[in-house]
Amino acid sequence: MAGTSILPNESIEWLKAAIAREESSYAAANPKSSKAYSAACAYMPGGNTRATVYYPPFPLAIERGENGKLYDADGHEYLNFVGEYTAGVYGNDASMLSTVLAAIGEHGTLLGGPTEHEAKLAELICKRWGYDKIRFCNTGTESNLLAVGLARNVTGKPGILSFNHAYHGGAMVFMDGPGPLNAPFDVTLSDYNDIEGTKAIIEANTDKLAAIILEPMMGAGGCIPADVEFLQMLRDMASAHNIVLIFDEVMTSRLSPGGLQARVGVKPDLTTMGKYLGGGFSFGAVGGRAELMNRFDPSKPGALSHGGTFNNNIASMIAGYIGLSEYFTEEACAELNARGDVMRERLNDIAAAAGVPVQATGVGSLIALHLCAGKIRRPADTNSPGSAEFKRLYLLYMLNRGFYVTARGMLTLNLHTTEGFIDAYLKAYIAFLDEFGPALTEAISATS
Ligand SMILES: Cc1ncc(COP(=O)(O)O)c(C=O)c1O
Repeated sequence: MAGTSILPNESIEWLKAAIAREESSYAAANPKSSKAYSAACAYMPGGNTRATVYYPPFPLAIERGENGKLYDADGHEYLNFVGEYTAGVYGNDASMLSTVLAAIGEHGTLLGGPTEHEAKLAELICKRWGYDKIRFCNTGTESNLLAVGLARNVTGKPGILSFNHAYHGGAMVFMDGPGPLNAPFDVTLSDYNDIEGTKAIIEANTDKLAAIILEPMMGAGGCIPADVEFLQMLRDMASAHNIVLIFDEVMTSRLSPGGLQARVGVKPDLTTMGKYLGGGFSFGAVGGRAELMNRFDPSKPGALSHGGTFNNNIASMIAGYIGLSEYFTEEACAELNARGDVMRERLNDIAAAAGVPVQATGVGSLIALHLCAGKIRRPADTNSPGSAEFKRLYLLYMLNRGFYVTARGMLTLNLHTTEGFIDAYLKAYIAFLDEFGPALTEAISATS
């Protein structure tokens, strides 16, 4: 393939043939995963209860995780670069798990009343991320619904502004326009990082917009950071027009000790959180300014009644507190993100040296790979020809060589991602670009 006579469209066909070869190696190496998938299909649609973790021909059946590694049903060991889609900061740390389980065992799990555990976790999170008050729930999806519901109530307005290709959980998906299962909010969409266009949309809709919701770095959309000026414009417009600015930091709160908002220096009115903050158990939260959050105070007349059987569940509250106070401390957080910044730089250096237009985007410990020659400022910029083939081939190639990676090209580091893990991964990445780089470079100019 290194020859220059191959046309871009032929490169795509060549990549498809390479995918077929990797896929047949994958199927041959994973008969138990295949069998587990077929059995699961009997009672779950597509053998699946979480769309994100499906990929064809069948996903690996993961049996166990410990200290940054995962083990599948066929006995393979993987270095874990999925990190449970950012929830897995702790990398299944064995010592943390036994501490957490012992602590849960001392209390029981269903106590039917307030406990010291939620109060301790609330104090820890509020102090570290700079919120006046916080409210817990069970998932990131729920936290966004709660934040938007609060904004609609305090402003008395119905609408929300979100961004094309944003993902705010299963009830607020805007990847290809509003998702069919979305909550029926009145949503207006703009383009991420488009200052002038977004400003015009806000100005035309000040009477109806209750909230602007966005991630300060698009996560599922491809680890694309927002420009600080864009965030500042949203801050100014929200303040000027009685609109609640919500940062969805479900993924990004791990990117500095005070979240990505502290790193970029723009403060929203409300922040939603989730994922790793439950210490390995389900978690969601909304934190922010007291005058907004106090609307949930049930001792006050006219309070917004926010229930939830498991909002203060013992497992998440205890594990969340132990994880944050003993493992993902401010120092550990800073160190992990510095390691991610170095890895991203190395990925970009490797691609540049190979002359292949694969870019590593992101911030700190969250990275995404894109086959893309131009500047990436929003997800639509990454739809290059050959991009789908690149992601598919990369996924199968890495899985076949013991690196657990995501189908979307996202990499996340966890507290057990050592320099040794990163070096091993980069070695495989260099080999991947050696073998497929020329075809990928050609493919990008293909026409459909
Ligand atoms: C930015 C963002 N918001 C919200 C969610 C939803 O969180 P959960 O899956 O816990 O409902 C996700 C999940 O990936 C997310 O990435």
